[in-house]
Amino acid sequence: MTRILVTGGTGYTGSHTCVELIQEGYEVIIMDNLYNSTDVVLNRIEEITGVKPKFYKTDLLDIEGLRTIFKENTIDAVIHFAGYKAVGESVEKPLDYYENNIAGSINLYQVMKEFGCKKIVFSSSATVYGDPQSVPIKEDFPVHTTNPYGTTKLMNEMILEDIAHADEEWTVLLLRYFNPIGAHPSGLIGEVPNGIPNNLVPYIARVANGQLEYLRVWGNDYPTVDGTGVRDYIHVVDLAKGHIKAVEYALHHHGVEKINLGTGKGYSVLEVLHAYEKACGKELPYQIMERRPGDIATCYADTTKAKELLGWEAQYGIDEMCKTSWDFTEKNPNGIV
Ligand code: WQD
Repeated sequence: MTRILVTGGTGYTGSHTCVELIQEGYEVIIMDNLYNSTDVVLNRIEEITGVKPKFYKTDLLDIEGLRTIFKENTIDAVIHFAGYKAVGESVEKPLDYYENNIAGSINLYQVMKEFGCKKIVFSSSATVYGDPQSVPIKEDFPVHTTNPYGTTKLMNEMILEDIAHADEEWTVLLLRYFNPIGAHPSGLIGEVPNGIPNNLVPYIARVANGQLEYLRVWGNDYPTVDGTGVRDYIHVVDLAKGHIKAVEYALHHHGVEKINLGTGKGYSVLEVLHAYEKACGKELPYQIMERRPGDIATCYADTTKAKELLGWEAQYGIDEMCKTSWDFTEKNPNGIV
């Protein structure tokens, strides 16, 4: 059985990917420091799949802990999700982000090299494109980051590219996610942000369940369909399935590939809000505010490469994304506890 180490596997995208991996017949080992998640997710994964993955509560900064995982298990490939991911927090605490997301990741790559594990799928982000020159965004577009979080994603991409160029036995897939939203149809796993959500859909979810009063719409004077920001929202289950295709590719190829994982379709803030109103059956209050510093007007993917190289394309639409998000929120008003 092919064994995959999933770092950050109790997190949002990680847990959904573990479910798909198990259902595809892979053996999954999860490593997480539980800084941004709970090990209750392991029970939820078992409820969905019938399998409770082997778990190591380990921090990327604990290199001996990483070695223990590789000593005790023969790992065929790694999917690396673990890392801090709040844009605003990264601006306030850059050193924490560079230590955890860069020094921590280097520990992982070092231990992979020591144990001859040379296949990795890395959780990157469309944020590496900065404010794109045009849309849809292709993988060969210029990269430019505007916050420490995005810079740690780009730095990891560059480090992994250099590792693969120095040793052609390595396979490196750099998956650039657009905006993951939604939840598993079981309603057992989903997005559980810490504190007041920065991202749009988790915030809307809390307006819908009464925990927050109204949505603040950050600007309606952008050059878009209705003046509000346009993004490429992708269902987290579609994203997870993209990782299965990426692992399959990595197990049979060498070299480095950068791949956009998006739907290729953009939705505005107000279009998402109205889709969510349909999903929850309520009118959701909002107020137009000033633009949020650092925001761009429009961002959505060119999905050609994922389709041609991986044979993958997103299946779910915005209504399903909002429906599963609302279903998870209703079932887990206080998160996964
Ligand atoms: C989406 C749109 C906001 C909240 C970020 C990260 C990116 C990736 C996805 C990890 C924008 C508007 C939002 C709110 C609003 N994360 N908005 N009111 O900024 O596109 O991307 O999350 O990889 O790296 O940068 O996502 O959900 O914050 O914003 O009006 O309360 O919703 O202005 O137009 P973003 P977002």
